[in-house]
Parts: sequence; structure tokens; C-alpha cells
Amino acid sequence: MIQYRGIYKAFDIPVLTGIDLTVETGEMFALFGPSGTGKSVLLKTTLGLITPDRGDVEVDGISIFHGQKGALEAVRRKCGYVFQYAALFDSLNVYDNVVMGLPEQELARMSRAEIARKIWDAIEIVNLDPHEVIAKTPAELSGGMKKRVGIARAIVGRPEILLWDEPTTGLDPINTTAIERLIHRLSEELEVTSLLVTHDIEGGLEMCDRVGMLEGGLLRFIGTPEEFRSCPDPVVRAFVDRQAAEAALDMMSGTR
Ligand SMILES: Nc1ncnc2c1ncn2[C@@H]1O[C@H](COP(=O)(O)OP(=O)(O)O)[C@@H](O)[C@H]1O
Ligand SMILES: [Mg+2]
Repeated sequence: MIQYRGIYKAFDIPVLTGIDLTVETGEMFALFGPSGTGKSVLLKTTLGLITPDRGDVEVDGISIFHGQKGALEAVRRKCGYVFQYAALFDSLNVYDNVVMGLPEQELARMSRAEIARKIWDAIEIVNLDPHEVIAKTPAELSGGMKKRVGIARAIVGRPEILLWDEPTTGLDPINTTAIERLIHRLSEELEVTSLLVTHDIEGGLEMCDRVGMLEGGLLRFIGTPEEFRSCPDPVVRAFVDRQAAEAALDMMSGTR
């Protein structure tokens, strides 16, 4: 469903130096890696938000960077993107934030009532009460609620693919578990292909079919959760240990 081929991208220094990865239809794939290694950059190439210097991304057979005119729009309609930090518009209420997830062509041909129905459904499906939140601005919501609104915006157009960029970062353990359950449920109910960037290794291993680890510009590991758990690569092991230590520290200081 998503195929990255030879993705190379440098800003001042090389970030991605040859990424080859195929995410199969219906699969849930988790991507791990230290911060600053290019996980968000890779996700953004999937929507053409960042153009690689070399290589191409194919989504459902459509080439994004070497394809025909209109390829990018076609791909964007297939994808829902859950941004890091929810990225809601502070001055807009929940309704208007979620409406941003619908493509303009679709908005143009739907009645106001149909649009309202879709927004309402998207808010309900992420376990929020539309009556309670629809008119609120992000400042009036808790961290977990904001993440849910960000997810509602990503799914409102009923995408075939969901790209999740650290959807649980900044949440406490209870909210992290709740959002991970939601990610898992939505991926099944909506029958989507999910690519999940996460710092929560245990959560990713539990819910995903395959996982990968990005390190030093390359995919250092791709395999099943079992293979990841028993992977002898010292770089992978050091990363896992460091993440566990950080999670423990965060929990003690109550930031997550
Ligand atoms: N638009 C950009 N312009 C310049 N540098 C960028 C841009 N986006 C990302 N980078 C750089 O690329 C590297 C990888 O960033 P990112 O993909 O955000 O890392 P992460 O793995 O934490 O998601 C970082 O060094 C970051 O500063
Ligand atoms: Mg990132």
C-alpha cells in the first residue's frame, strides 16, 4: 500500500540516506527511532509535504514524485495524518478543526447537514461527546481530548491509510494506553493501513504486525515484534534500554 524506494533527504546534513520499506495493505507498522532521526520527515514524504532529493514513494500504486499531474491530490485523499502535538488551530472550535480534514471537493458537493453528520460521527468514534466538545476551542480541552480531536480530523474523510506521528507523546500512562487502544480499534474498524511513529516501544510492539527502527539515516531493523524483542543488534538493544530508562524517568516526574 505504501512503498518507499531509495528515499534520500538532506537538509544541512543527510537525514535519510536510502530508505526502502513496504507497508502492506491492512498492516499496522510501527516505526521507532531516536529523536531527530527523520521519522517525521519520512512520514511527510508520504503526503508530498517534503520532497526527497532522491527516491520515490508509491501509495496504492500512485507515484508521488514521478507520477502524473494530480497524483499528489489523489494520494492525499487516501491518507489521514495525525500530526505530532495534535496541531489544532487554536482560534477554531472543534467542529471547524475537524472540518479541515475533509477535502474541498467533498465539502463542495455535500449539504451542510451531511457535513455536520460526518463531523459528529468522527467525534463520536474517537470517544468524545460531540454535545460537550463541538463548540469548544483547543484551549478548553485536556491534552488527551486534543489528541482525540486531531485523530477525528484525520479520519473524518474515511482514509484508506492513517499516518500517526507520535500520537501519545506528552500523555500520562493512562491516556497513552487509552489512545493506543483507540488507534488499534480504529485501524481495525476502519480497515485502514496504519504507519505509526511512536516513542512507546511496548505499545507499538503490542499492537503492530511489524516494526522498524530508523537510525543513522537507515532502517536499522525491520521485522515482527518477536524478532525485534530478540534482536541481538547492540544498537537496537541500546536504544530499547534508553527508551525504557527515559519512560521511567518521565513517569517519576509525572510528565507522561
Ligand atoms: N523542514 C525542515 N527544514 C530543515 N531541517 C529539517 C526540516 N524538517 C526536519 N529537519 C531536520 O531533519 C532532522 C530529522 O527531523 P525529524 O524527522 O523531525 O526527526 P524525528 O525522528 O524526531 O521525527 C532533524 O535534524 C531536523 O532538524
Ligand atoms: Mg518527529
